[in-house]
Amino acid sequence: MNLNYQILRRLPPPLHFWLLKQSNRIKLSRVERVPCDPSALIKGVTPELIRNLLVSSTYDAEWETLHAEIETLKGAIGPSSVNYGENRALYILIRHFNAHSALEVGTHVGGSTVHMVAALKANSTPERAPRMVTVDIVDQNTPASLARRLGIATPLEKIEHFGASDWTQFIQQPSLGYLAETKEKFDFIFLDGDHAASVVYRELPAALERLNPGGVIMLHDYYPDGKALFSDHKITAGPWLAAKRLQREGAQFRIIPLGSLPWPTKLGSTTTVLAMVVHTSLQ
Ligand SMILES: C[S@@+](CC[C@H](N)C(=O)[O-])C[C@H]1O[C@@H](n2cnc3c(N)ncnc32)[C@H](O)[C@@H]1O
Repeated sequence: MNLNYQILRRLPPPLHFWLLKQSNRIKLSRVERVPCDPSALIKGVTPELIRNLLVSSTYDAEWETLHAEIETLKGAIGPSSVNYGENRALYILIRHFNAHSALEVGTHVGGSTVHMVAALKANSTPERAPRMVTVDIVDQNTPASLARRLGIATPLEKIEHFGASDWTQFIQQPSLGYLAETKEKFDFIFLDGDHAASVVYRELPAALERLNPGGVIMLHDYYPDGKALFSDHKITAGPWLAAKRLQREGAQFRIIPLGSLPWPTKLGSTTTVLAMVVHTSLQ
């Protein structure tokens, strides 16, 4: 823990997060311009379409069954994990957009991983096999892993429970390295790794390169206008700052924050920091 952090954590939360935002801005300004081609992104998606999808009861029954099954693994949520409402939204989005392959950046305790895997499995057909890749700088499946320490199933145990180990790959590597090296393309990409603006600014264009035509990219920790959304005053400004710079530089994408979900999320609210990246074209 360095001295700056020691000072920062003693400050009132609004000032603490404001300073972090400014630091993010400065570090982002030092990154060279990156080309960004959003042509693979899904078109014709509006906030209304997403809202209607999330409030519909189409997936309610299968969700309840899935949730009960995940609970038998002693849950899927650790500190900094995607929460209940957000996992439910991710599940529905993958089901609705009929994704057959997905990439996740940020495995952590495998909370979002297992929900994504379950949705891919439900979408699979004899003609189209599912495929999941999840990337983290840390090996999250060791005996010393966070999941183990929390007393919940490791990410690998979770996906084994769903019979998905043959088609799920764990990669231990920084996302930028993996995205630069891989030749694979995906229908659905979820970015929940390093949230620094300087990283997301490079990660989003790299993810767009690995997206199948008509694919979906979801961001976590997207705080619109860099403003706090919860009672803890926390702001993770990186994804918003990165997206704003790419848009300013002419990238034709739009960000749709999911806003409020029909289910509980965190700190007694229904607010989510999930956001969908879509093409600006509505056709
Ligand atoms: C917020 S957690 C992800 C939570 C996870 N999606 C869940 O629901 O349990 C962020 C994770 O990203 C990983 N991470 C941080 N920087 C990364 C990077 N550059 N590339 C890949 N993973 C990274 C961290 O080790 C951490 O496990």
